Amino acid sequence: MSFSIIATGSALPKKVVTNDDLAQFLDTSDEWIVTRTGIKTRHVATDETTSSLAVEAAKNALDMAHLSPSDLDLIICTTVTHDYITPSLACVVQGELGANCPALDINAACSGFLYALDVADGYFARGRVEKVLVVSSELLTRITDWRDRATAVLFGDGAGAVVLGRGDALRSIKIGAKGNPDPLYSPNVGGISPWRADKTEPECFLHMNGQEVFKFAVSTVSADLIDVAQEAGIDVSSLDHAVLHQANLRILDAAARKCGLAPEKMEVIIDETGNMSSACIPIALDRLVRSGRLHSGEWVALAGFGGGYTSGAACFKWD
Ligand code: ACO
Repeated sequence: MSFSIIATGSALPKKVVTNDDLAQFLDTSDEWIVTRTGIKTRHVATDETTSSLAVEAAKNALDMAHLSPSDLDLIICTTVTHDYITPSLACVVQGELGANCPALDINAACSGFLYALDVADGYFARGRVEKVLVVSSELLTRITDWRDRATAVLFGDGAGAVVLGRGDALRSIKIGAKGNPDPLYSPNVGGISPWRADKTEPECFLHMNGQEVFKFAVSTVSADLIDVAQEAGIDVSSLDHAVLHQANLRILDAAARKCGLAPEKMEVIIDETGNMSSACIPIALDRLVRSGRLHSGEWVALAGFGGGYTSGAACFKWD
């Protein structure tokens, strides 16, 4: 026995930016963005921060679980766009909530939420925890190069959270990494060490080879869905819902076709939110739960892919 997801929560910045808003200062159009990506709008932080969105999402999930922060045995956060290099996002969230438990961050880019679930699975297996909070919060607009139409149109901000409790809904989980930083990366600050050989200051923006990432995403995510479904003892076509990282609507469609999943089983939020890296999956899951469309006994798979390259997938029999 490992865990069940007993509650979900999410938070989005209040500012909504349309494709037409972007076309005011980028050489792009609503038609290009919708056709190539499926994105119509995205939420963009103004006064919100990675931490403030994370705390709001966490509180929503704790409310749904009818738990207080003192009930938590572990907090795991995932982000590539935290407000600080240190302290960790998990420590900031812990402090804001007033929880009293270990807290750690995971950086696995857009697969972060799956990595967090896998780490939590280990804590449950060792009998070390009863309740775990996982929060994925991202301000992708912080590392977006707003001069580059090829990437600026893709991203948004948001946070999603889940509370895990001892249970047996999780039926299979896998994570992976390929150690290929070139197609998708964002440099850190160079620093002002007098001994640093290269004195140029890198721009801390996201660089992406979109077509390479697209190919990796479709092949990996479809293979991972087949694997986790098989390990859970079902055929991928028997899944009731699939909640995937939201990078491009065409990736979701192609992955569904490749693994034999009916496209209408794919949860889609990218049209409203854009790509929010590790926050996409828990936000989409929260929508699915709160809309009342996810029923006890149904099969739901989660799958992510992203910078690194990293990937991860899990299969649940919802309870
Ligand atoms: N508006 C108008 N034209 C554009 C835009 C834009 N916003 N962006 C690019 N173009 C142009 C290009 O300049 C190019 O023009 P050219 O033919 O004259 O050279 C043309 O459109 C086609 O460009 P492509 O890059 O070939 O377009 P593609 O169909 O591959 O779509 C996209 C690009 C949307 C980025 C796609 O490759 C994609 O979604 N890739 C995956 C991205 C992804 O998964 N990211 C996830 C990781 S993000 C993370 O981990 C944080």
